[in-house]
Amino acid sequence: MRLGVLTGGGDAPGLNAAIRAVVRRAQADHGEVIGVRNGWAGLVEPHQTRLIDPHEVSGILAVGGTMLGTSRVNPLKSQGSLGQVASRIGELELDALVAMGGDDTLSVAGALAAQGLPVVGVPKTMDNDLQVTEYCIGFDSAVAIVTEALDRLHTTAAAHHRVMVVEVMGRDTGWVAVMGGLAGGADMIIIPEFPVELSQIAHHLRGRRTRGRDFSIVVVAEGATVGGLADFEVAPEARDQFGHALLSRRGIGAQLAEALEGATGFETRVTVLGYTQRGGAPTAYDRIWATRVGAAAYELAVEGAFGKIPVKRGDGVAVAEIAAVVESQRRVPEDLYELAKVFY
Ligand code: F6P
Repeated sequence: MRLGVLTGGGDAPGLNAAIRAVVRRAQADHGEVIGVRNGWAGLVEPHQTRLIDPHEVSGILAVGGTMLGTSRVNPLKSQGSLGQVASRIGELELDALVAMGGDDTLSVAGALAAQGLPVVGVPKTMDNDLQVTEYCIGFDSAVAIVTEALDRLHTTAAAHHRVMVVEVMGRDTGWVAVMGGLAGGADMIIIPEFPVELSQIAHHLRGRRTRGRDFSIVVVAEGATVGGLADFEVAPEARDQFGHALLSRRGIGAQLAEALEGATGFETRVTVLGYTQRGGAPTAYDRIWATRVGAAAYELAVEGAFGKIPVKRGDGVAVAEIAAVVESQRRVPEDLYELAKVFY
């Protein structure tokens, strides 16, 4: 068995554990694994693939990032590029390709599988918003980082009697904001699924002061909508190849902090957690889950179950169609959002 493996889209802690699982499983079966550098770019550009020596995966279980590198190169942008990827899979004589990624990377994997190419997927995104699967590699690590940051921000916000706005990742969904906010005791959580008005947030903060709470932690997802704040104009060059706006340039946290200070008169600061949420060592959960799902993807490849992807269902690993996983985004349900409000 000759397998290719690539990681695409934003990196996430746990990717190396998944790569290691694929390589170790292949090694046990005397197979070969070809590493593709930088996501789909590695199958569009020449000389971006090489045989992975099993020794290379020793010691990477605990290391963040991805040993293969990643990119947001999108071969679906032109028929030519998709054709190039298809021919490279043939030239490399791959029996299967394991594509690890979120909705963008997996939409390419699904398109290739639909053309009859031997592709399987692995769900990875710290946003945790793929359909069908209950979990994506990287989410637990991101939530742990947000939780630790909120713990730290509590003590300084309390000492200075300030409002602390904390901007976290979450382009279209608020999983990191809600779970991190619940674990870190946020006093208000603002996410893309449930738009709010600036006046509602200001009212809530004033109410807290009246009740003797002289500091507040407001968690806002980078893609949230707050009525009353200026609209965000995205320059065409500030979009990636999949058409997503670079929200790190939007600065909703800073905008919200300024507007809240103006509306309430409470001293307000902003902290943008940014790429720290994707960096560093994976949690134990991410290491274990990535290992399980990496090994499961290897099994799917061996079985010739192309166009399929291992997903989390309950405590176990189930199998789904890649096309179903990328069909839409899994959004935060109202009951979870409402639960967070109990603690405001
Ligand atoms: O991978 C998803 C994500 O982390 C989003 O939450 C965020 O908007 C985006 O990646 C940032 O992308 P980039 O790494 O291209 O700046």
